[in-house]
Amino acid sequence: MLDKASLKILLESLEKLDAGFAALPDFDAQVPGANRMAETLAATAERLRDNYPYFHPLYAGQMLKPPHPVARLAYALAQWINPNNHALDGGRATSAMEKEAVGGIAGMFGWREHLGHLCGGGTMANLEALWVAGQLAPGKKILASAQAHYTHGRISGVLQLPFTSVPCDARGRIDLAKLSEHVARGDVGTVVATMGTTATGSVDPLAEILDLREKHGFRVHADAAYGGYFGLAGNLGEEARRGFDLLHRVDSIVIDPHKHGLQPYGCGCVVFRDPGVGKLYKHDSPYTYFSSKELHLGEISLECSRPGASAAALWATQRLLPLVKCGEFARGLEDCRAAALELYQRLEKDARFVTAFPPEMDIVVFAPRAGSVSESSEKSRQIFDAAARRNLHLAVAELPLEFFAANLGGMKKDRASLICLRSVLMKPEHKDWIGRIWEILSQATEDCLGR
Ligand SMILES: Cc1ncc(COP(=O)(O)O)c(C=O)c1O
Repeated sequence: MLDKASLKILLESLEKLDAGFAALPDFDAQVPGANRMAETLAATAERLRDNYPYFHPLYAGQMLKPPHPVARLAYALAQWINPNNHALDGGRATSAMEKEAVGGIAGMFGWREHLGHLCGGGTMANLEALWVAGQLAPGKKILASAQAHYTHGRISGVLQLPFTSVPCDARGRIDLAKLSEHVARGDVGTVVATMGTTATGSVDPLAEILDLREKHGFRVHADAAYGGYFGLAGNLGEEARRGFDLLHRVDSIVIDPHKHGLQPYGCGCVVFRDPGVGKLYKHDSPYTYFSSKELHLGEISLECSRPGASAAALWATQRLLPLVKCGEFARGLEDCRAAALELYQRLEKDARFVTAFPPEMDIVVFAPRAGSVSESSEKSRQIFDAAARRNLHLAVAELPLEFFAANLGGMKKDRASLICLRSVLMKPEHKDWIGRIWEILSQATEDCLGR
Protein backbone atom coordinates (compact mmCIF):
# COMPACT_ATOMS: atom_id res chain seq x y z
CA MET A 1 0.00 0.00 0.00
CA LEU A 2 2.77 2.47 0.94
CA ASP A 3 5.26 3.36 -1.80
CA LYS A 4 8.53 1.49 -1.41
CA ALA A 5 9.65 1.36 -5.03
CA SER A 6 10.98 4.91 -4.93
CA LEU A 7 13.58 3.95 -2.32
CA LYS A 8 15.72 2.58 -5.15
CA ILE A 9 15.95 6.10 -6.59
CA LEU A 10 17.08 7.34 -3.18
CA LEU A 11 19.94 4.84 -3.09
CA GLU A 12 21.08 5.86 -6.58
CA SER A 13 20.96 9.56 -5.71
CA LEU A 14 22.79 8.91 -2.47
CA GLU A 15 25.64 7.34 -4.44
CA LYS A 16 25.76 10.48 -6.58
CA LEU A 17 25.81 12.73 -3.54
CA ASP A 18 28.49 10.66 -1.92
CA ALA A 19 30.68 10.91 -5.01
CA GLY A 20 30.71 14.67 -4.58
CA PHE A 21 32.73 14.26 -1.37
CA ALA A 22 35.11 11.59 -2.67
CA ALA A 23 38.17 13.81 -2.19
CA LEU A 24 37.81 13.65 1.61
CA PRO A 25 39.69 11.02 3.63
CA ASP A 26 37.47 8.15 4.75
CA PHE A 27 36.29 8.06 8.36
CA ASP A 28 34.12 5.96 10.62
CA ALA A 29 31.07 7.89 11.76
CA GLN A 30 30.16 7.27 15.38
CA VAL A 31 26.62 5.93 15.50
CA PRO A 32 25.63 5.22 19.10
CA GLY A 33 23.21 2.28 19.30
CA ALA A 34 23.86 1.23 15.68
CA ASN A 35 23.26 -2.46 16.38
CA ARG A 36 19.83 -1.72 17.91
CA MET A 37 18.60 0.51 15.12
CA ALA A 38 16.60 -2.13 13.23
CA GLU A 39 14.67 -3.09 16.33
CA THR A 40 14.10 0.57 17.20
CA LEU A 41 12.83 1.40 13.73
CA ALA A 42 10.51 -1.61 13.78
CA ALA A 43 9.12 -0.29 17.08
CA THR A 44 8.73 3.13 15.44
CA ALA A 45 6.81 1.58 12.53
CA GLU A 46 4.59 -0.19 15.04
CA ARG A 47 3.82 3.10 16.79
CA LEU A 48 3.19 4.93 13.50
CA ARG A 49 0.45 2.45 12.62
CA ASP A 50 -1.77 4.28 15.10
CA ASN A 51 -2.72 6.93 12.54
CA TYR A 52 -5.59 7.58 10.18
CA PRO A 53 -4.55 6.47 6.66
CA TYR A 54 -3.88 9.99 5.38
CA PHE A 55 -2.27 8.66 2.19
CA HIS A 56 -5.38 6.70 1.13
CA PRO A 57 -8.33 8.10 -0.87
CA LEU A 58 -10.72 6.86 1.84
CA TYR A 59 -9.14 9.43 4.12
CA ALA A 60 -11.29 12.40 3.11
CA GLY A 61 -11.36 14.34 6.36
CA GLN A 62 -8.98 17.08 7.43
CA MET A 63 -6.58 19.16 5.35
CA LEU A 64 -3.89 16.53 5.01
CA LYS A 65 -2.16 15.56 1.80
CA PRO A 66 0.68 13.12 1.24
CA PRO A 67 3.94 14.62 0.01
CA HIS A 68 5.03 13.74 -3.50
CA PRO A 69 7.56 10.86 -3.45
CA VAL A 70 10.16 13.14 -5.00
CA ALA A 71 9.75 15.58 -2.11
CA ARG A 72 10.09 12.76 0.41
CA LEU A 73 13.20 11.44 -1.32
CA ALA A 74 14.84 14.85 -1.79
CA TYR A 75 14.15 15.65 1.88
CA ALA A 76 15.67 12.32 2.95
CA LEU A 77 18.65 12.78 0.64
CA ALA A 78 19.39 16.18 2.11
CA GLN A 79 19.40 14.62 5.58
CA TRP A 80 22.77 13.05 4.83
CA ILE A 81 24.10 16.63 4.73
CA ASN A 82 21.53 18.23 7.08
CA PRO A 83 22.03 21.80 5.83
CA ASN A 84 20.78 24.78 7.79
CA ASN A 85 19.36 27.56 5.65
CA HIS A 86 19.92 30.24 8.24
CA ALA A 87 23.11 31.26 6.52
CA LEU A 88 25.22 30.36 3.52
CA ASP A 89 27.76 29.05 6.05
CA GLY A 90 25.26 26.31 6.95
CA GLY A 91 23.46 25.61 3.70
CA ARG A 92 25.03 27.02 0.56
CA ALA A 93 23.38 24.73 -2.00
CA THR A 94 20.01 24.57 -0.27
CA SER A 95 19.91 28.37 0.24
CA ALA A 96 20.28 28.76 -3.53
CA MET A 97 17.57 26.12 -4.00
CA GLU A 98 15.30 27.96 -1.57
CA LYS A 99 15.74 31.24 -3.43
CA GLU A 100 14.91 29.50 -6.72
CA ALA A 101 11.91 27.65 -5.29
CA VAL A 102 10.51 30.78 -3.62
CA GLY A 103 11.16 32.66 -6.88
CA GLY A 104 9.01 30.02 -8.59
CA ILE A 105 6.20 30.62 -6.10
CA ALA A 106 6.46 34.40 -6.45
CA GLY A 107 6.44 33.91 -10.24
CA MET A 108 3.24 31.88 -9.96
CA PHE A 109 1.67 34.99 -8.40
CA GLY A 110 3.07 37.17 -11.18
CA TRP A 111 5.93 38.74 -9.20
CA ARG A 112 9.42 38.93 -10.59
CA GLU A 113 10.67 41.29 -7.90
CA HIS A 114 9.87 40.03 -4.43
CA LEU A 115 11.31 39.14 -1.05
CA GLY A 116 10.42 35.84 0.52
CA HIS A 117 11.51 32.64 2.14
CA LEU A 118 10.33 29.34 3.53
CA CYS A 119 9.41 28.83 7.16
CA GLY A 120 7.81 26.33 9.51
CA GLY A 121 4.26 26.68 8.17
CA GLY A 122 1.31 28.98 7.66
CA THR A 123 1.35 30.24 11.22
CA MET A 124 5.00 31.35 11.09
CA ALA A 125 4.52 32.78 7.60
CA ASN A 126 1.48 34.84 8.67
CA LEU A 127 3.36 35.94 11.77
CA GLU A 128 6.09 37.41 9.58
CA ALA A 129 3.61 39.08 7.24
CA LEU A 130 1.74 40.72 10.13
CA TRP A 131 5.00 41.59 11.91
CA VAL A 132 6.10 43.51 8.80
CA ALA A 133 2.61 45.04 8.48
CA GLY A 134 2.73 46.16 12.12
CA GLN A 135 6.09 47.84 11.68
CA LEU A 136 4.87 49.72 8.61
CA ALA A 137 1.70 50.94 10.35
CA PRO A 138 2.42 50.92 14.09
CA GLY A 139 -0.66 50.83 16.31
CA LYS A 140 -3.09 50.40 13.41
CA LYS A 141 -5.62 47.58 13.28
CA ILE A 142 -5.42 44.22 11.60
CA LEU A 143 -8.76 43.06 10.15
CA ALA A 144 -9.61 39.52 9.12
CA SER A 145 -12.90 37.74 8.56
CA ALA A 146 -14.64 35.60 11.16
CA GLN A 147 -13.76 32.59 8.96
CA ALA A 148 -10.08 33.58 8.63
CA HIS A 149 -7.70 31.17 10.34
CA TYR A 150 -7.63 31.68 14.10
CA THR A 151 -3.92 32.37 13.82
CA HIS A 152 -4.50 36.01 12.75
CA GLY A 153 -6.20 37.02 15.98
CA ARG A 154 -3.66 35.11 18.03
CA ILE A 155 -0.64 36.47 16.14
CA SER A 156 -1.98 40.02 16.47
CA GLY A 157 -2.05 39.38 20.22
CA VAL A 158 1.55 38.19 20.18
CA LEU A 159 2.57 41.26 18.18
CA GLN A 160 0.41 43.48 20.38
CA LEU A 161 -1.45 44.83 17.37
CA PRO A 162 -5.16 45.67 17.69
CA PHE A 163 -7.26 43.04 15.87
CA THR A 164 -10.88 43.05 14.71
CA SER A 165 -12.79 40.10 13.36
CA VAL A 166 -15.19 41.11 10.56
CA PRO A 167 -18.39 39.05 10.09
CA CYS A 168 -18.83 36.86 7.01
CA ASP A 169 -21.57 36.66 4.42
CA ALA A 170 -23.62 33.49 3.85
CA ARG A 171 -20.82 32.02 1.72
CA GLY A 172 -18.08 32.35 4.33
CA ARG A 173 -16.46 35.42 2.74
CA ILE A 174 -15.66 38.67 4.50
CA ASP A 175 -18.80 40.85 4.54
CA LEU A 176 -18.02 43.82 2.31
CA ALA A 177 -20.53 46.20 3.83
CA LYS A 178 -19.12 45.55 7.33
CA LEU A 179 -15.55 45.77 6.04
CA SER A 180 -16.29 49.14 4.37
CA GLU A 181 -17.62 50.49 7.67
CA HIS A 182 -14.48 49.39 9.51
CA VAL A 183 -11.94 50.74 7.04
CA ALA A 184 -13.78 54.08 6.76
CA ARG A 185 -12.77 54.76 10.38
CA GLY A 186 -9.18 55.35 9.25
CA ASP A 187 -7.48 53.23 11.89
CA VAL A 188 -6.90 50.08 9.82
CA GLY A 189 -3.34 49.15 8.89
CA THR A 190 -3.91 45.79 7.21
CA VAL A 191 -6.79 43.74 5.83
CA VAL A 192 -6.22 40.01 5.61
CA ALA A 193 -7.88 38.51 2.53
CA THR A 194 -8.27 34.76 2.92
CA MET A 195 -7.90 33.03 -0.44
CA GLY A 196 -9.49 29.77 0.64
CA THR A 197 -10.74 29.54 4.22
CA THR A 198 -9.78 26.55 6.33
CA ALA A 199 -13.33 25.44 7.07
CA THR A 200 -15.05 25.81 3.69
CA GLY A 201 -12.47 27.00 1.12
CA SER A 202 -14.30 30.31 0.67
CA VAL A 203 -12.43 33.04 -1.20
CA ASP A 204 -12.66 36.63 0.06
CA PRO A 205 -13.69 39.19 -2.60
CA LEU A 206 -10.23 40.50 -3.41
CA ALA A 207 -11.27 42.88 -6.21
CA GLU A 208 -13.53 44.83 -3.85
CA ILE A 209 -10.96 44.73 -1.03
CA LEU A 210 -8.38 46.22 -3.42
CA ASP A 211 -10.89 48.93 -4.41
CA LEU A 212 -11.30 49.80 -0.73
CA ARG A 213 -7.51 49.95 -0.41
CA GLU A 214 -7.41 52.58 -3.19
CA LYS A 215 -9.79 54.71 -1.15
CA HIS A 216 -8.50 54.14 2.37
CA GLY A 217 -4.83 53.24 1.91
CA PHE A 218 -4.37 50.12 4.07
CA ARG A 219 -2.15 47.12 3.37
CA VAL A 220 -3.60 43.91 1.95
CA HIS A 221 -2.17 40.62 3.10
CA ALA A 222 -3.42 37.46 1.35
CA ASP A 223 -3.57 34.33 3.44
CA ALA A 224 -3.42 31.75 0.68
CA ALA A 225 -1.91 29.11 2.96
CA TYR A 226 -4.41 26.50 1.83
CA GLY A 227 -5.82 27.94 -1.39
CA GLY A 228 -2.82 29.62 -3.03
CA TYR A 229 -1.99 26.92 -5.57
CA PHE A 230 -5.58 26.87 -6.89
CA GLY A 231 -4.71 29.96 -8.93
CA LEU A 232 -3.17 27.45 -11.38
CA ALA A 233 -6.38 25.44 -11.74
CA GLY A 234 -8.38 25.91 -14.92
CA ASN A 235 -11.74 25.02 -13.37
CA LEU A 236 -12.28 27.65 -10.65
CA GLY A 237 -15.60 29.46 -10.44
CA GLU A 238 -15.77 32.92 -11.96
CA GLU A 239 -15.53 34.89 -8.72
CA ALA A 240 -12.62 32.92 -7.30
CA ARG A 241 -10.82 33.18 -10.66
CA ARG A 242 -11.25 36.94 -10.60
CA GLY A 243 -9.71 37.10 -7.12
CA PHE A 244 -6.74 34.92 -8.05
CA ASP A 245 -6.08 36.99 -11.16
CA LEU A 246 -5.65 40.04 -8.92
CA LEU A 247 -3.42 38.40 -6.34
CA HIS A 248 -0.32 40.10 -7.75
CA ARG A 249 -1.70 43.41 -6.45
CA VAL A 250 -1.60 42.52 -2.75
CA ASP A 251 1.32 43.46 -0.49
CA SER A 252 2.16 40.07 0.93
CA ILE A 253 1.12 36.46 0.39
CA VAL A 254 1.35 33.36 2.55
CA ILE A 255 1.18 29.95 0.89
CA ASP A 256 1.84 26.56 2.43
CA PRO A 257 3.75 24.11 0.27
CA HIS A 258 2.98 21.59 3.03
CA LYS A 259 -0.72 21.83 2.21
CA HIS A 260 -1.35 21.71 -1.56
CA GLY A 261 2.32 21.97 -2.62
CA LEU A 262 3.04 18.25 -2.08
CA GLN A 263 5.61 18.87 0.69
CA PRO A 264 6.22 17.18 4.03
CA TYR A 265 5.22 19.22 7.06
CA GLY A 266 7.40 22.13 8.08
CA CYS A 267 7.13 24.05 4.82
CA GLY A 268 5.35 27.39 4.76
CA CYS A 269 6.23 30.38 2.62
CA VAL A 270 5.85 34.15 2.91
CA VAL A 271 6.46 36.52 0.01
CA PHE A 272 6.39 40.31 -0.07
CA ARG A 273 5.82 42.35 -3.21
CA ASP A 274 8.23 45.06 -2.08
CA PRO A 275 11.75 43.70 -1.49
CA GLY A 276 12.39 46.91 0.48
CA VAL A 277 10.70 45.38 3.55
CA GLY A 278 13.92 43.38 3.96
CA LYS A 279 15.35 46.33 5.88
CA LEU A 280 12.85 45.72 8.68
CA TYR A 281 14.58 42.40 9.40
CA LYS A 282 17.96 44.04 9.95
CA HIS A 283 19.83 42.55 12.89
CA ASP A 284 23.37 41.71 13.91
CA SER A 285 24.53 38.12 14.03
CA PRO A 286 28.12 38.12 15.20
CA TYR A 287 28.49 34.38 14.55
CA THR A 288 27.33 34.12 10.95
CA TYR A 289 27.00 35.86 7.61
CA PHE A 290 30.77 36.18 7.09
CA SER A 291 31.25 33.45 4.48
CA SER A 292 29.66 35.43 1.67
CA LYS A 293 28.45 38.91 0.83
CA GLU A 294 25.46 37.33 -0.93
CA LEU A 295 22.10 37.37 0.86
CA HIS A 296 21.94 34.91 3.75
CA LEU A 297 18.31 33.86 4.26
CA GLY A 298 18.62 34.40 8.00
CA GLU A 299 18.98 38.11 7.23
CA ILE A 300 15.39 38.17 5.95
CA SER A 301 13.61 35.68 8.18
CA LEU A 302 12.55 35.65 11.82
CA GLU A 303 13.49 32.02 12.39
CA CYS A 304 17.19 31.32 12.73
CA SER A 305 17.90 27.63 11.98
CA ARG A 306 15.70 26.27 9.22
CA PRO A 307 15.87 22.93 7.38
CA GLY A 308 17.72 23.09 4.09
CA ALA A 309 16.05 19.74 3.44
CA SER A 310 12.68 21.55 3.04
CA ALA A 311 14.19 23.71 0.33
CA ALA A 312 15.70 20.67 -1.43
CA ALA A 313 12.32 18.90 -1.34
CA LEU A 314 10.41 21.90 -2.69
CA TRP A 315 13.02 22.64 -5.35
CA ALA A 316 12.91 19.01 -6.56
CA THR A 317 9.10 19.00 -6.65
CA GLN A 318 8.91 22.23 -8.61
CA ARG A 319 11.57 20.96 -11.02
CA LEU A 320 9.52 17.81 -11.62
CA LEU A 321 6.16 19.55 -11.67
CA PRO A 322 6.55 23.23 -12.60
CA LEU A 323 4.02 25.69 -11.21
CA VAL A 324 2.30 26.47 -14.48
CA LYS A 325 -1.32 26.73 -15.55
CA CYS A 326 -2.54 23.63 -17.42
CA GLY A 327 0.51 21.62 -16.30
CA GLU A 328 0.59 18.25 -14.52
CA PHE A 329 0.63 19.88 -11.10
CA ALA A 330 -2.35 22.10 -11.97
CA ARG A 331 -4.25 19.05 -13.23
CA GLY A 332 -3.97 17.49 -9.78
CA LEU A 333 -5.68 20.53 -8.26
CA GLU A 334 -8.36 20.50 -10.94
CA ASP A 335 -9.10 16.86 -10.09
CA CYS A 336 -9.47 17.76 -6.41
CA ARG A 337 -11.96 20.49 -7.23
CA ALA A 338 -13.81 18.21 -9.64
CA ALA A 339 -14.07 15.59 -6.87
CA ALA A 340 -15.53 18.19 -4.49
CA LEU A 341 -18.08 19.36 -7.07
CA GLU A 342 -19.12 15.78 -7.78
CA LEU A 343 -19.63 15.01 -4.08
CA TYR A 344 -21.52 18.28 -3.63
CA GLN A 345 -23.86 17.47 -6.53
CA ARG A 346 -24.61 14.00 -5.17
CA LEU A 347 -25.35 15.44 -1.72
CA GLU A 348 -27.55 18.17 -3.14
CA LYS A 349 -29.72 15.65 -5.00
CA ASP A 350 -30.16 13.38 -1.96
CA ALA A 351 -33.01 14.42 0.37
CA ARG A 352 -31.19 12.90 3.38
CA PHE A 353 -28.66 15.75 3.37
CA VAL A 354 -28.48 19.50 3.65
CA THR A 355 -25.60 21.25 1.92
CA ALA A 356 -24.04 24.69 2.27
CA PHE A 357 -22.94 26.75 -0.76
CA PRO A 358 -21.10 24.99 -3.62
CA PRO A 359 -17.36 24.45 -3.01
CA GLU A 360 -14.91 27.03 -4.40
CA MET A 361 -11.99 24.63 -3.98
CA ASP A 362 -11.97 21.05 -2.67
CA ILE A 363 -13.81 21.32 0.67
CA VAL A 364 -17.42 20.13 1.01
CA VAL A 365 -19.55 20.68 4.11
CA PHE A 366 -22.89 18.97 4.67
CA ALA A 367 -25.16 17.57 7.35
CA PRO A 368 -27.97 15.04 7.64
CA ARG A 369 -31.47 16.49 7.32
CA ALA A 370 -33.35 16.15 10.61
CA GLY A 371 -36.20 17.65 12.59
CA SER A 372 -33.98 20.27 14.19
CA VAL A 373 -30.46 21.68 13.96
CA SER A 374 -29.45 20.04 17.24
CA GLU A 375 -30.71 16.67 16.03
CA SER A 376 -28.81 17.10 12.75
CA SER A 377 -25.68 18.04 14.74
CA GLU A 378 -26.01 14.89 16.82
CA LYS A 379 -26.51 12.75 13.71
CA SER A 380 -23.46 14.33 12.03
CA ARG A 381 -21.29 12.97 14.81
CA GLN A 382 -22.94 9.56 14.51
CA ILE A 383 -22.36 9.44 10.74
CA PHE A 384 -18.72 10.47 11.29
CA ASP A 385 -18.28 7.42 13.56
CA ALA A 386 -20.28 5.06 11.36
CA ALA A 387 -18.27 6.06 8.26
CA ALA A 388 -15.00 5.58 10.19
CA ARG A 389 -16.12 2.06 11.14
CA ARG A 390 -16.45 1.43 7.40
CA ASN A 391 -12.97 2.91 6.79
CA LEU A 392 -14.16 6.23 5.38
CA HIS A 393 -12.64 9.08 7.38
CA LEU A 394 -14.42 12.43 7.31
CA ALA A 395 -14.09 15.47 9.58
CA VAL A 396 -16.61 17.32 11.75
CA ALA A 397 -16.94 21.12 11.84
CA GLU A 398 -19.15 23.61 13.64
CA LEU A 399 -20.33 26.30 11.24
CA PRO A 400 -22.77 29.24 11.31
CA LEU A 401 -26.32 28.27 10.41
CA GLU A 402 -26.44 30.97 7.71
CA PHE A 403 -24.09 28.87 5.56
CA PHE A 404 -26.88 26.29 5.23
CA ALA A 405 -29.89 28.57 5.64
CA ALA A 406 -31.06 28.41 2.03
CA ASN A 407 -31.31 24.61 2.22
CA LEU A 408 -32.59 23.94 5.74
CA GLY A 409 -36.25 23.64 4.69
CA GLY A 410 -38.45 22.92 7.69
CA MET A 411 -35.59 22.11 10.09
CA LYS A 412 -36.17 23.75 13.50
CA LYS A 413 -33.45 26.34 14.11
CA ASP A 414 -32.80 25.62 17.78
CA ARG A 415 -29.05 26.38 17.58
CA ALA A 416 -27.06 29.22 16.00
CA SER A 417 -24.46 26.85 14.59
CA LEU A 418 -24.63 23.46 12.93
CA ILE A 419 -22.22 20.66 13.68
CA CYS A 420 -21.75 19.22 10.23
CA LEU A 421 -19.56 16.87 8.27
CA ARG A 422 -16.60 18.26 6.37
CA SER A 423 -14.60 16.56 3.68
CA VAL A 424 -11.36 17.94 2.24
CA LEU A 425 -10.87 16.09 -1.05
CA MET A 426 -7.28 17.15 -1.53
CA LYS A 427 -5.89 14.08 -3.23
CA PRO A 428 -6.34 13.91 -7.02
CA GLU A 429 -7.25 10.23 -6.54
CA HIS A 430 -10.41 11.41 -4.82
CA LYS A 431 -11.90 12.14 -8.25
CA ASP A 432 -11.90 8.46 -9.17
CA TRP A 433 -12.91 7.39 -5.69
CA ILE A 434 -16.02 9.55 -5.32
CA GLY A 435 -18.27 6.62 -6.29
CA ARG A 436 -16.78 4.45 -3.54
CA ILE A 437 -16.78 7.30 -1.01
CA TRP A 438 -20.44 7.98 -1.80
CA GLU A 439 -21.37 4.34 -1.38
CA ILE A 440 -19.80 4.17 2.09
CA LEU A 441 -21.21 7.54 3.12
CA SER A 442 -24.62 6.39 1.99
CA GLN A 443 -24.38 3.15 4.00
CA ALA A 444 -23.09 5.00 7.09
CA THR A 445 -25.98 7.46 6.79
CA GLU A 446 -28.46 4.59 6.54
CA ASP A 447 -26.90 3.05 9.68
CA CYS A 448 -27.66 6.28 11.57
CA LEU A 449 -30.88 7.60 10.01
CA GLY A 450 -32.48 4.29 9.07
CA ARG A 451 -33.00 5.61 5.51
C1 LIG B 1 -5.94 29.69 5.62
C2 LIG B 1 -4.95 29.16 6.62
N1 LIG B 1 -4.07 30.00 7.20
C3 LIG B 1 -3.17 29.57 8.09
C4 LIG B 1 -3.12 28.25 8.49
C5 LIG B 1 -2.11 27.80 9.50
O1 LIG B 1 -1.13 27.06 8.85
P1 LIG B 1 -0.18 26.01 9.62
O2 LIG B 1 -1.08 24.95 10.15
O3 LIG B 1 0.73 25.53 8.54
O4 LIG B 1 0.54 26.74 10.68
C6 LIG B 1 -4.03 27.34 7.93
C7 LIG B 1 -4.05 25.94 8.35
O5 LIG B 1 -4.89 25.16 8.00
C8 LIG B 1 -4.96 27.80 6.97
O6 LIG B 1 -5.87 26.98 6.41
